[in-house]
Amino acid sequence: MPTDGQCLARDPIAIPAYLTKAYWWAYVHPQAVRVFERQWLVNVILWGNFGRLRDEALDALGVTLPGRTLQVACVYGDLTSHLAARVADGGRLDVVDVLPIQLENLARKLRPDGPVTLMHGDSAALEAEPASYDRALLFFLLHEQPEQVRRATLAEALRVVRPGGRIVIVDYHRPSALNPLYWPMVAILRTLEPFALDLWKHEIDRWLPASAKFAALERATSFGGLYQLVTITV
Ligand SMILES: C[S@@+](CC[C@H](N)C(=O)[O-])C[C@H]1O[C@@H](n2cnc3c(N)ncnc32)[C@H](O)[C@@H]1O
Repeated sequence: MPTDGQCLARDPIAIPAYLTKAYWWAYVHPQAVRVFERQWLVNVILWGNFGRLRDEALDALGVTLPGRTLQVACVYGDLTSHLAARVADGGRLDVVDVLPIQLENLARKLRPDGPVTLMHGDSAALEAEPASYDRALLFFLLHEQPEQVRRATLAEALRVVRPGGRIVIVDYHRPSALNPLYWPMVAILRTLEPFALDLWKHEIDRWLPASAKFAALERATSFGGLYQLVTITV
């Protein structure tokens, strides 16, 4: 397990089939980290928008982050180190991911004395207590998950964030038909990301539990509608 940061090992957790089938090349294969852990590459994959989307997500969470923050799933690039830098007043950041290889990679990117705990777990079945976090971030996770997992991930985020807390989601969104990247993105996502176009068909509200209670949901799209930032105030 990681040597940097603190890592809580738990019972064996199965790797979801969609990761081994559809995303082995991006996250599961031992060479995946070596290929993709490059800031310039994650920026290219997002058409030059990585830094902007990262900073908008962080700003939506808060300028400073006291209390408990949850990042659901690791992300290539420097998102987590920027997030950790905002943790303030004795606050903590937990990052949960279902792949140990991704947690180990993230640990190498973080200061060993930082406020971050890395946790092995499944976004669809978090171990956290209800209402135990002040906020949660889901950065380009939902488009990679099949519908039932996406629903469970959102339900879990709503369960673990306290009333008045915030859930920030950044992900793909169906762009305007006039966006010159519309058809290239259809081709890319259809080839590489089997569940992403499904996310295009509806707004994220669609996968929230029918019984979900929250105070507000705000959505902003950018880059011709290709990306969305959703902020849910619980
Ligand atoms: C956040 S997503 C995509 C992020 C972005 N595309 C990037 O550049 O890294 C990738 C991460 O989600 C994790 N992941 C996928 N399904 C998960 C699940 N059910 N529970 C926890 N982590 C999950 C993967 O292991 C991987 O580390």
